[in-house]
Amino acid sequence: MINLLEVKHVTKKFGGVVANNDVSFSVERGQIVGLIGPNGAGKSTMFNMVSCVFPPTSGEIVFEGRNIENISSFKAASLGIARTFQNLQVFKNMTVIENVMVGAHLHTRSNMLIAALSLPGKRKEERELYDMAMEYLHFVGLEHLFDYLSSDLPLGALRLLELARALAVKPKLLLLDEIAAGLNHKETKEMANLIERIRDRGVTVLVVEHDMDLVMGICDKVVVLDQGVKIAEGTPKEVQNNEQVINAYLGADIDDIKGGE
Ligand SMILES: Nc1ncnc2c1ncn2[C@@H]1O[C@H](COP(=O)(O)OP(=O)(O)O)[C@@H](O)[C@H]1O
Ligand SMILES: [Mg+2]
Repeated sequence: MINLLEVKHVTKKFGGVVANNDVSFSVERGQIVGLIGPNGAGKSTMFNMVSCVFPPTSGEIVFEGRNIENISSFKAASLGIARTFQNLQVFKNMTVIENVMVGAHLHTRSNMLIAALSLPGKRKEERELYDMAMEYLHFVGLEHLFDYLSSDLPLGALRLLELARALAVKPKLLLLDEIAAGLNHKETKEMANLIERIRDRGVTVLVVEHDMDLVMGICDKVVVLDQGVKIAEGTPKEVQNNEQVINAYLGADIDDIKGGE
């Protein structure tokens, strides 16, 4: 099956607000797909449905050939869907490595109950969790900060920490919601490079991002939402030259969609 994810005619209403209106698109295995659009277009809402935070009002979401619209977010994570949040959701009172261990925990053999009861195997498992978490910290470049309290980290490091924690779920599909927001130019470039390395490790990536250099630089395909409706889909070049897309971004700066060097 070439498509890892299929979003089919998905609509989400919040009272009178139609956050997503009959949206369909697919994500091919091994690709980096961008989901873009002006503020309020419905991007985060779509992420919340794909990660099963809440179900669509109507429509289907199919992951590896299986309907997931009505499963829990915990179940979605165990199927291999991991995400980061636009508003960071790091546990501030935990250390950096503890935050990643929380993510990795989902994939250890024995469950939380066994760990809590201190049955044999716990120590070994803790060690494995620790080593695995350290590997992901190394991958994102935060290894040296492993025992820092998360509340002491600057924004750039917090974004990397969220990424490490999501990777620790060993996802097949990784959803990144504005992972580069607030990062400087150099950090954004490093983030783009990191996302490509994640893809090269076999993880399919769906990114919501406002930084057009990042989107246009790394995405195989871009899906454009405006006021809940999909207005375009295609290669970065195709969407950049699409009249409807340019119009949707007018009023914003035209450079927003063209990207500026
Ligand atoms: N939990 C919610 N309850 C009510 N309205 C919401 C909720 N989440 C999003 N919305 C509304 O849905 C629309 C799309 O929001 P969102 O998906 O956050 O857009 P984007 O991420 O593209 O900026 C907005 O009008 C927003 O106010
Ligand atoms: Mg959003």
